[in-house]
Amino acid sequence: MGRDVIVACDFSSAEATYEFLDKFTGRKPFVKIGMELFYAAGPSIVKELKGRGHKVFLDLKLHDIPNTVKKAMSVLSNLDVDICNLHASGAIPMMEAALEGLTRADGTRPLLIAVTQLTSTDQETMERDLWIKEPIDQVVMHYAENAKKAGLDGVVCSPLEAEKVHDRCGKEFLTVTPGVRFADGDKGDQKRVMTPEQAKLIGSDYIVVGRPITAAADPVAAYERCVREFCD
Ligand code: C5P
Repeated sequence: MGRDVIVACDFSSAEATYEFLDKFTGRKPFVKIGMELFYAAGPSIVKELKGRGHKVFLDLKLHDIPNTVKKAMSVLSNLDVDICNLHASGAIPMMEAALEGLTRADGTRPLLIAVTQLTSTDQETMERDLWIKEPIDQVVMHYAENAKKAGLDGVVCSPLEAEKVHDRCGKEFLTVTPGVRFADGDKGDQKRVMTPEQAKLIGSDYIVVGRPITAAADPVAAYERCVREFCD
């Protein structure tokens, strides 16, 4: 898969999601379904969106014992998602088990990427609550390398980390980056942001864009602008 824009469908119901996506009569965006929508609407929303021609990144961030994650991943694989994810802090055996669970009888599988440290965790929180004393940027790179060792396809990271992840883990190791804003747009609660064009220059493989598209007066035009700036 090449560079693409993934639209974060942070809606609370299937109806609201379909109402939003019905506006896209041309190119069908790659969409991200997070916990809120998945728990509200259930697995049928994945099937419905795939049936409508969307690629789906199912952002459920699994983290449990290897056997449980393996079995859960095989259920997600049967839903035919395109990308799913887990927490790298579940450690290498959990990540390897996840890959096993995802791999279908014919050898195909969805892409699997890891969350390193949540962007809501800063150095102070990590030291105080998690008892991890190393610098957070090194922890992020160490987790990315663990994901690579386990055979995963990439990580979710800040666009500001994408270049470093590629240097450490190779150009083909995917970086999926949220925190994207138009140069003339509102940052909202995101602190460290990049424009789609900057994200392209530093080598992000996928950008995840929510409110700049979902809250735009013309979401289709905002999506197309993102695609122009990031993919072309
Ligand atoms: O609306 P906005 O563009 O900020 O949405 C970004 C999306 O990416 C949301 O679904 C958010 O939960 C997700 N995300 C993030 N930062 C992370 C991981 C995920 O913004 N570190």
